[in-house]
Amino acid sequence: VTIRRQDYQPYPFAVDTVALAFDLQPALTTVTAELEVVRQHPGDLVLDGEDLELVSVAVDGQPLASHAYQLAPTTLTIPGLGERARLTLVSRCRPAENATLMGLYVSNGVFFTQCEAEGFRRITWFPDRPDVMSRYTVTLRAPKADFPQLLSNGNLIAQRELADGRHEAVWEDPFRKPCYLFALVAGKLAWTEKRVRTRSGRDVLLQVYTDPGNEGKTEWALASLERSLRWDETRFDLELDLDRFMIVAARDFNMGAMENKGLNIFNAAYVLADPDSATDANYSAIEAVIGHEYFHNWTGNRVTCRDWFQLSLKEGLTVFRDQEFTADMMAAALADTGLTGDALAKAQASARTVKRIDDVIALRAAQFPEDAGPMAHPIRPESYQEIGNFYTATVYEKGAEVIRMQHTLLGEAGFQRGMAEYFRRHDGQAVTCDDFVDAMESVYRAQHPERDLTAFRRWYRQAGTPRVRVTLAYDAQARTCTVTLAQHCAPVGVERLAGDSLHKAPVHIPFKIGLLDAQGHPLPLRLSGSDAAASDTVVLELTEASQHWVFTDVPGHPVPSLLRDFSAPVIVEYDYTDRDLALLLAHDTNAYARREAGQELAARHILAHASGATTPPDDAQLVQAWRAVLDDPQVDPGWRARALNLPAEKVLAERMSPIDPGALAQARDLVRARLGRDLAGQWRAAIDDNQTPGAYSPDPLSAGRRDLKNLALSYLLAGGDAPARELAELQYRDAGNMTDRLAALAALVNHAPGAAADAALADFYQRSRRDPLMLDKWFALQATARTTDAGQVRKLLAHSDFTLRNPNRARALVFQFCLNNPRHFHAADGAGYRFWAEQVLALDAFNPEIAARLARGLEQWTRYAPVLRDAMHAALERVRSQAGLSRNVTEIVSKALEIS
Ligand code: ARG
Ligand code: ZN
Repeated sequence: VTIRRQDYQPYPFAVDTVALAFDLQPALTTVTAELEVVRQHPGDLVLDGEDLELVSVAVDGQPLASHAYQLAPTTLTIPGLGERARLTLVSRCRPAENATLMGLYVSNGVFFTQCEAEGFRRITWFPDRPDVMSRYTVTLRAPKADFPQLLSNGNLIAQRELADGRHEAVWEDPFRKPCYLFALVAGKLAWTEKRVRTRSGRDVLLQVYTDPGNEGKTEWALASLERSLRWDETRFDLELDLDRFMIVAARDFNMGAMENKGLNIFNAAYVLADPDSATDANYSAIEAVIGHEYFHNWTGNRVTCRDWFQLSLKEGLTVFRDQEFTADMMAAALADTGLTGDALAKAQASARTVKRIDDVIALRAAQFPEDAGPMAHPIRPESYQEIGNFYTATVYEKGAEVIRMQHTLLGEAGFQRGMAEYFRRHDGQAVTCDDFVDAMESVYRAQHPERDLTAFRRWYRQAGTPRVRVTLAYDAQARTCTVTLAQHCAPVGVERLAGDSLHKAPVHIPFKIGLLDAQGHPLPLRLSGSDAAASDTVVLELTEASQHWVFTDVPGHPVPSLLRDFSAPVIVEYDYTDRDLALLLAHDTNAYARREAGQELAARHILAHASGATTPPDDAQLVQAWRAVLDDPQVDPGWRARALNLPAEKVLAERMSPIDPGALAQARDLVRARLGRDLAGQWRAAIDDNQTPGAYSPDPLSAGRRDLKNLALSYLLAGGDAPARELAELQYRDAGNMTDRLAALAALVNHAPGAAADAALADFYQRSRRDPLMLDKWFALQATARTTDAGQVRKLLAHSDFTLRNPNRARALVFQFCLNNPRHFHAADGAGYRFWAEQVLALDAFNPEIAARLARGLEQWTRYAPVLRDAMHAALERVRSQAGLSRNVTEIVSKALEIS
């Protein structure tokens, strides 16, 4: 069944209070729910429930006979209620058997919950929708020896001992919330904590819980939580509204983390870190996810979603906020490096750009393909079959870009005024994306009485990545340069089936641009008809299909620096010459656009090799451009590492038709080896210059040095440099942190397979045996290795440390191979696809949400060369024909097959 946004109906009842009592037993847990309901509209009371055993129903204390209600497989209907009623529902569920990891489940002997989006219905009968908001009191009872900690949302108001070694805790959440924010945790846990004072002077307790023995790895998480709290106070003027804020790490978790009110539950991978087991990337992901969930307390919990079509209301906004948090933290860390004045400002701007680059890389690798495939949807989808399938890169990352564009259009001060207006209007409510844009528009119109956000709102309605075609016309006599921007967005996914009937209107695109002269100097920009002072960058607001702007006093034909800072999620089309690109890479003052030029240049070389052109490109030019960046002492190592890395295969594949993963991988190898060989001296110098001696610190400057040093190492090994192999072996052995150890191991395994690489892998395994997150790294590194084919992956599948039941482990091996090892996954004999189909079906038998994620691995099948396409088609058909397939996987494979 397809659920449509247009069909929204308010729920007939308000549920004012909810009292839940849990008798927690892993095998069979009894839940008693007492709901005070008040009629709002005519209609029956229909409650959702899944995998529940109904024990009894009572209304106002009177048990209902079974003919007084209707029990269907996933609903319980109670007709004939009056204005007010007190319902008492008793039900049972089986947490230990629950491998879906939705609802109430047991992981490592600890009870956890995951309710978003529709997991609460697996705990008790309830209107499981976000616009029903209630005040919760939760009573937890369990045997004390096995479950000493009993946690739920809000404040602990009572605790007592019960008979038979059991105990009880009562929690009360002072804020109304939708049921998807409910949580409980019960078990044996260790924790660290800190008391801090909020801006207004309230004392709050911050805690991070984990399995006993790992509390030593929670320091970074606890510090990140405190930084999140401070940042939301200073940058967004938002304060913590609870006396206690808890984070609990779970080993088995479907996603990254969950923002349950006052009791965030996290995948352990985003909590636990120490220098021996976590990389720089892990540290920064932990800080970002802790920030993200914490920021949801306002953007998601205080103001929540009316229905799940509005998911981007909270996710796009909160991703934008966590991106800004990371950028601000990266800039702030540089203040302790001894830099001052201009040098500090420059370094900070560069650090922010590094974050921006990473976010755009992720967007292009995941969201652009999604937006061109069968699952393409607007950031506010129009329909879905299973909402669990719509926690997507589009809703999250493109959603964040749509918020960022509003920030760009309004400016920081204007955006913050819009946020204040949003909270003034909607605190405590369940609202829509339109409500958010309305608040922002009120500020935008005050700033520009002649403008509005009509065209902007189409970003919420239209799928697909718009293309912006740029043309320049230079008039030497008038010394003007006319820049024309024209936008176009082709039909995508199901829209293609609609044929010509679909009309997409222009969207509002803030397009940041600069101009360089032939020597690479920035030109001061003056727009004809504007009295603004000349500046280095201007934001052109494209709201129509095509518009032009005239720049005056332009001394010669300029080289444009386009879509600076990636100011909109679009694809730019401009006919750069290779020389233009080299000039921009060497000189552009915008560090984002500067890197982009180099990536475009490299992409051209790789794609030309991959296409098997009769005259292969002259890579000497690329070597020269790369050398210039390596020799530029001005720029920071983190930026350089990103500028000198080659574009990812996923990004390159988007530009190839049909996609030939083998040819692409070979072409990329060829170019990398050439750069490795020809610049060996520079790479060696980069390694020497970017050592990070002393105690490990994950700060951005040190992390950037390690990025560059380890990139240099991999280039050298890819170039076949014999001394570098030894260097990698030594770095593996002597590394003082996981970043360096793992980078050395990856370089050896990928570029110098043999006895030394095998020995290092075996050593890594020994070091990892007691640490699941390190074992995940061991599996993932092999799953993505250049030498690992489907046969090898099957061997790893049989390893005693492998289990498909743990999502992190499944992701480390199965997902990494299917999604991040294109060279072998797309083997011409179809072995990778057969493996994929088996694993999708194996996962679907117990965890449909995770199975559906893997199922998406073949959705681009129509874009591949015929042999691969046919084999993918067969694998998709194999999955679709399986009896008893989940709704989750059915939606994915049927959409993939539908648009063939
Ligand atoms: N709201 C969570 C987050 O972004 C994601 C939860 C998604 N859960 C799920 N089972 N689909 O932070
Ligand atoms: Zn979120």
